[in-house]
Amino acid sequence: MVGNGCVGTAYAGVVRDGQRDFYDEAQVYDILHTPGTAREVDGLERIVRRAIGRRPIVVLEPACGSGRYLRVLGRRGYQVLGIDINPRMVAYANERLRRLGLGRRARVIEAPMESFAGRVGGVRFDAAFNLINTIRHLTSDRAMLAHFSEVRRVLRPDGVYVVGLSLSAPGIEQPSEDVWQARRGRVHVHQFVSYLPESRPRRERVCSHLTVRTPSGVRHIDSVYELRRYTIAQWKNLVRRGGFEVAGVVDDAGHAIQVPRVGYAIFVLRNAGVRGARAHSPAVRRSSGPRRGR
Ligand SMILES: C[S@@+](CC[C@H](N)C(=O)[O-])C[C@H]1O[C@@H](n2cnc3c(N)ncnc32)[C@H](O)[C@@H]1O
Repeated sequence: MVGNGCVGTAYAGVVRDGQRDFYDEAQVYDILHTPGTAREVDGLERIVRRAIGRRPIVVLEPACGSGRYLRVLGRRGYQVLGIDINPRMVAYANERLRRLGLGRRARVIEAPMESFAGRVGGVRFDAAFNLINTIRHLTSDRAMLAHFSEVRRVLRPDGVYVVGLSLSAPGIEQPSEDVWQARRGRVHVHQFVSYLPESRPRRERVCSHLTVRTPSGVRHIDSVYELRRYTIAQWKNLVRRGGFEVAGVVDDAGHAIQVPRVGYAIFVLRNAGVRGARAHSPAVRRSSGPRRGR
């Protein structure tokens, strides 16, 4: 075991503490996570259409990373804005959008989730989305409430915020592991991730070991970061204090599900002050299918 709590030989090399390190590897992130994105966007489109009762036009992604969702949405004709705190992610995302000829309808700005509303040029969004636990990078109530306030400032009154996160139940979770791998051209990326619940109160430690193989050699990149943990009660309480209400809970295909006690679910949030907005259709089929994330 090394000093940061990560276990195993994968972490015996250089271990750099801090979430930015992994996210500095924008291309590596993109290679690993782009496969399957179009299908995820199919689900996202379904969720938003049902929630607002029409096709959205202008869409926001806080903490968009390499812009994999934005590229798919841009190609499908949406106007999209991403924000991300990491300048390397922002540069990579904008370059890919530009090369695809999407620069006029899709762009990314560098800003934190906690403070970005003044940077969007007065645009009002039909929907915002934040999937695969990214919102858990906000590590305090204060940061989350600031973020909710910013999102509410830029959403249209009937707009929705679609948030995917894994819920925790203290005491019953065990450490777990995931392996991801993907290839793009002659670059092959392998990631071994371990998740250590309760590394500190309300925190989950995520230890990542990346192996990047190219014709010119092999790189190993270790990084460690922490995500905030939520029980369902803690999450619902913060949503309410943030001025939102839960309009629906769905899986990543858009099927309504029971609110889980533990595990991944997608919450459709709408401004609590707005009455008459469509709740997520109660007629939606229930599903017990696979969910991305943990
Ligand atoms: C797991 S990646 C998700 C990227 C993208 N949403 C996706 O699903 O592919 C998390 C991203 O959150 C960004 N991030 C972390 N904390 C942030 C913050 N406080 N404000 C804005 N971006 C943040 C990181 O730079 C990184 O690009």
